[in-house]
Amino acid sequence: MRNNFLWGGATAANQYEGGYLEDGRGLSINDVELGASHGHARVIHESIQDDYYYPSHQATDFYHHYKEDIALMAEMGFKCYRMSICWSRIFTNGDDEIPNEKGLEFYDHIFDELAKHHIIPIVTLHHFEMPLALVQKYGGWRSRQLIDLAVRYAKVVMERYKEKVNYWIVFNEINSLFIAKTPWHQAWVIYQEDENQVDLMFQMAHYQLVTSAKTVIEGRKINPNFKFGNMILYNCCYAHTCDPIDQMMLHDKLLPIYYFSDVQIRGKYTNTCLAYQKKMKAHFQIEEGDLEILQQGTIDFYSFSYYSSLVEGQAVTKSADGNLLDGGRNPYLKATAWGWQIDPLGLRISLNLIYDRYQIPLFISENGMGAIDEFKNQTVEDDNRIDYLKQHVKAIKEAIEEDYVDCFGYAWWGPIDIISAGTGEMKKRYGFVYVDLDDQGKGTGKRYKKKSFEVYKKIIETNGEI
Ligand code: BG6
Repeated sequence: MRNNFLWGGATAANQYEGGYLEDGRGLSINDVELGASHGHARVIHESIQDDYYYPSHQATDFYHHYKEDIALMAEMGFKCYRMSICWSRIFTNGDDEIPNEKGLEFYDHIFDELAKHHIIPIVTLHHFEMPLALVQKYGGWRSRQLIDLAVRYAKVVMERYKEKVNYWIVFNEINSLFIAKTPWHQAWVIYQEDENQVDLMFQMAHYQLVTSAKTVIEGRKINPNFKFGNMILYNCCYAHTCDPIDQMMLHDKLLPIYYFSDVQIRGKYTNTCLAYQKKMKAHFQIEEGDLEILQQGTIDFYSFSYYSSLVEGQAVTKSADGNLLDGGRNPYLKATAWGWQIDPLGLRISLNLIYDRYQIPLFISENGMGAIDEFKNQTVEDDNRIDYLKQHVKAIKEAIEEDYVDCFGYAWWGPIDIISAGTGEMKKRYGFVYVDLDDQGKGTGKRYKKKSFEVYKKIIETNGEI
């Protein structure tokens, strides 16, 4: 392992920050969503209503606990912390003339605190988040106007923090637009029955790819040393059998993954992208100048989330669970309480496949295990999480040391407990630090170290020894 390997953790503002109307922050679309406690499918309101508990309002209150939380990260030895900025904290309605100074100050405090502990921030600009007003006024990413609004927000943020932040990720899991059952969390759009959903999906993907590239171009004008990454919801998938038809199905399954990273890294719609457009019979508008923007705004590193693996093939009947991804069950693997199949070797395989294809540095921007924790004697004996962590670290080490994959960092998802993106629950915990809050946001909010805390600390201290 390289000596400067970036061990750390990752979170998203809407799952962690809370402080939802503080210091001039505007409403974010997440603020009107209810969690799973209201019956698994998430419910979205037009505005805040009394008598409901909205998970994002308080989340696990990083807003008021940031000093304590960053100190805990530092105690574990974090070298990096991947976090996202809440857009409506900076532009209350998304299209305001002036940014909210108080919101900008909040992130100044965070970056200063991180610097105090020598933790490098890796900042995501769009992590399943948007000012509510932009969804109501423009229809989310349905509108091409979002490109300019998103780039303006990015420019303000990059200019403000140009001395404090070097690593930027524009969109979290950009390909979830093609993979999720609805484009809600990536684009904030609900399809209308009479519209061509495929065309709209490809159009919105184009808007986001142009936004990604424009952000890179503008960022490099602000600071040529900035490093930009994408963030892909990676689908580690195996063919069910050696039947060539199953292999072809696997090939097709990966097209929507490569679609985004090909453009972001190679700067054009490659043959893979064109093949996918054709297969899906997609038509969308490319305006003059767009292709040049895509060509110029290519990224420096590839980042991805990895939690589990899936199976594809003609005879696959039982579908496994996972974050937005769908695929079949694998009889060789065990799964978490949420049915996500645990496959550390799949991470080594994925690192190899991605690196072979793109040959640019890789960053594992999310990996982790959601589990139900038993809080006893002021701690959690989370041996299941420890086992998951150790096995995945071993896989990364092997990919780097045996396979020569250039991977420069690893961020554990939700190192301090946060709210689940998929269900809005607290009980699905990923952290090395337990936060005393339940699904209804009740509890003291106090932080307690779990058994895994010391294990991750040791892993970082020894640069990956397990
Ligand atoms: C990723 C998202 O898809 O999965 C995170 O980027 C999310 O925001 C993570 O939290 C785990 O999913 P969940 O549903 O368990 O929170």
